[in-house]
Amino acid sequence: MFNIVIFGPPGSGKGTQSKLIIEEYDLMHLSTGDILRGEMARKTPLGLEAKKLIEKGELVPDDIVIEMVKNKIDENLDQKGFIFDGFPRTCEQAEALDRLLEERNTTISVMISLEVEEDELVKRLLKRAEEEGRQDDNLDVIKNRIKVYNDVTCKVADYYGKTGRHRPVDGSGDIEKIFDRICGAINQEKASA
Ligand code: C5P
Ligand code: MG
Repeated sequence: MFNIVIFGPPGSGKGTQSKLIIEEYDLMHLSTGDILRGEMARKTPLGLEAKKLIEKGELVPDDIVIEMVKNKIDENLDQKGFIFDGFPRTCEQAEALDRLLEERNTTISVMISLEVEEDELVKRLLKRAEEEGRQDDNLDVIKNRIKVYNDVTCKVADYYGKTGRHRPVDGSGDIEKIFDRICGAINQEKASA
């Protein structure tokens, strides 16, 4: 398997780029945000619980998301690899993911970290609010999601950095240009593997 994490603040383009990456590298897209929104839409107990946190821009507890990811991995062990989008969001989640993959004889090869200025993030998320109507894409919640990223999630980059797996990529500009930069980083990783 070849597994990667796509990382970055809300609005950095993780979902958009994941769609292009799965086509190019034949990976499975595992987006914890998408899974949680699916649970919310179906009004499952997990969805109803997650809704309260997502609407405030807070994080769903580690044990819940880790269990969710574990199940998805085990249902898809026949895949060539995964791209993890929106997960891990805490160092505890990153450690759990490493353990889960190690137990299945695989690993995260690289973490692609999309770097985008805060003004641009807010602009993109407000535009997405108009296009997709996501409840958590409103200014108050956006501000809190960025705060949670800066306070908690950004430390996950250091976690991967310590093991030489953190690749920062400029996430500003055209979607195709950003994708080219990401492919450059992934191909370099594949070549050295
Ligand atoms: O990844 P995405 O931006 O789609 O996530 C939307 C929301 O889902 C987050 O703001 C957070 O409330 C919740 N979430 C979470 N833990 C994750 C992924 C998403 O709490 N690992
Ligand atoms: Mg997303």
